[in-house]
Amino acid sequence: MISKRSIERVIETAKVEEVIGNFVNLKRRGVNLIGLCPFHDEKTPSFTVSPAKNIYKCFGCGKGGNAVSFVMEHEGYGYIEAIKFLAQMYHIELEEIEMTGEQKEAEAKRDSLFIINEWAKNRFAKNLFNTQHGVNIGLAYFKERGFRESIIKKFDLGFASADSRDIFNAAKSEGYNIDFLKELGLVSDKELDFFRNRVMFTIHNLTGKAIGFAGRIMGDNPKMPKYINSPESEIYNKRKILYGLYFAKNEIRKQNHCILVEGYTDVLSLFQSGIENVVASSGTSLTTDQIRLIKRYTDTIKILYDGDAAGINAALRGMDMILAQNMIVKLVILPEKHDPDSYIKEVGPSAFMQYISENEKDFILFKTNLLLKEASGDPVKKAYILKDIVATLAKVPDALNRAMYIKECSNLLDVGEKIINAEINKIIKKEIREKNQRRIRNEQVDSTLELVDDQSKVVADSQAFLVQSDEYQEMEVVRVLMDKGHTYYDENNNRLVVDFILDEVMQILDYFDNHIYKKIILFVKNLREKGKIPERNDFFNADEEIKEKYFELIMTPYEYADWQSKGMELQTQKHPDKNQFNEANQAVWRLQYKKLNKLIKYNQENIIKNSDNPEEYKTLIKVHIKLLKERKNLATLLNIVI
Ligand code: UTP
Ligand code: MN
Repeated sequence: MISKRSIERVIETAKVEEVIGNFVNLKRRGVNLIGLCPFHDEKTPSFTVSPAKNIYKCFGCGKGGNAVSFVMEHEGYGYIEAIKFLAQMYHIELEEIEMTGEQKEAEAKRDSLFIINEWAKNRFAKNLFNTQHGVNIGLAYFKERGFRESIIKKFDLGFASADSRDIFNAAKSEGYNIDFLKELGLVSDKELDFFRNRVMFTIHNLTGKAIGFAGRIMGDNPKMPKYINSPESEIYNKRKILYGLYFAKNEIRKQNHCILVEGYTDVLSLFQSGIENVVASSGTSLTTDQIRLIKRYTDTIKILYDGDAAGINAALRGMDMILAQNMIVKLVILPEKHDPDSYIKEVGPSAFMQYISENEKDFILFKTNLLLKEASGDPVKKAYILKDIVATLAKVPDALNRAMYIKECSNLLDVGEKIINAEINKIIKKEIREKNQRRIRNEQVDSTLELVDDQSKVVADSQAFLVQSDEYQEMEVVRVLMDKGHTYYDENNNRLVVDFILDEVMQILDYFDNHIYKKIILFVKNLREKGKIPERNDFFNADEEIKEKYFELIMTPYEYADWQSKGMELQTQKHPDKNQFNEANQAVWRLQYKKLNKLIKYNQENIIKNSDNPEEYKTLIKVHIKLLKERKNLATLLNIVI
């Protein structure tokens, strides 16, 4: 194992512009460097590298990261491989250290599981091609369905013998650990093979390793499940795997969209017809983790589901989840009684592609039309449709995207944009309330509008809820925390910005509206408790949600333009990087002010409720006075009149 210390050395040494410079032609623009993004097709450069922050971000496809993640992404390396690559580039010697017994064991077990699956995969393939039964029945079945040998081999298809101890006996005689075979679901507790007399599909992870299998009966038998699937194991988490993604990822990036189908055979059929950007969610309904996997490669998903009611319903469910990830969803409903596999076989690849491009609909048009058809002029039903569509629209996090959809919807439904907007705000407000399980009722537009600066006013107009909730202020605090947390708050270098913010914000953390911001603050607090100063790399190595927020908040294409355009700020700011004291204060105080206002309102409601309880009433009044005083202090600090 490589020592942590030398990994850290590599990360510290690697300069993102030098590393990327090996692969991409970069030109200086202002403080940043830009070039053509290697991860998606583009003609004008939107791939931005910030030497100061040591990170990159493409504003076309959204990819971003540091030197390590660039090498991983670009070269398809794993983490350790990428570290080794960089170590070589910078002539850093990597120190090897011994793993603890426990680490070794865990590592060894994972390795064994992979080795056994690899072995089973090969055995299934051997059965298919080299046994009489396999050739006559399994291979014949695949061929009859039109799968060519090249695709059968590429996707590691195979055949499970009818012999109920084929796998068990072979594994035993070759000395494999039967407990591990049980864990992988290859043999049962009774030591019988799990997959018997079925054609086999291998499920690969992102690096192409076999992590599970699916077995299909040949032909139809209503008494038996069509497919049986490997159970989850230490190496197979169904919610995080998409069938075919290992083979599809490059093409998804190239085409800048991903085709999502329902079945294994759909993936195979499309792939062998040259449509390679195709994946299926294997054996589960689509999960958010799966959507986020796709998002690594593209922002657009085309859902190709069967034309039956089940297919349409599954598509509608998937749609809302994709929207919630700020991705674009298109829908193609195939002619009735067809799935992608049968349809491409009937009409051939080019007619199939033509069908997609002629029939792909933006989700909102699709859903609205579908519902309108159902309502057919009934005004009561139309009201329900509006509610339904609005619920979907409320899932779109990005204000600009949402505004665009609202416009379209308003036209289709013949309902004013204002009404739709108001309905969406209602839902969002309700969700925020429920999420926080707080008892603040009937939130009104806050009386703190005077606090909102120019920037958030723009946001406020299109996203009234951001003003009503405190997400904007929470975001500012988190932004400063992530961007400036490691710098000194005071001139004497006694206190870090991160400590100032944590001290001030912890007590109101329970009142946060946005769970991600709350999570980030807890994450940073945890680091501080371990004596660490949060750095860029901590956010990189955090979970996806935190990492994504980090990019969103820290690297915007407007960072400098924005600062320069605010002439007013220029008088008080020497340079944005030196202004952490003001920035931290402003962010924290504004948030506190907003929360305080809510607290006051909540307390007032309590006072009214307790008017016949003199003891309680008195205490609440005292609290009220104290809160007002605090608010006055903050108002003075913020230089506003209340
Ligand atoms: P389908 O019934 O559409 O199967 O189920 P298919 O993949 O198109 O197979 P063919 O073309 O009829 O041979 C779609 C997906 O649902 C899961 C599988 O992932 C399948 O690919 N499924 C279906 C199961 O896991 N178990 C089942 O019994 C049926
Ligand atoms: Mn099918």
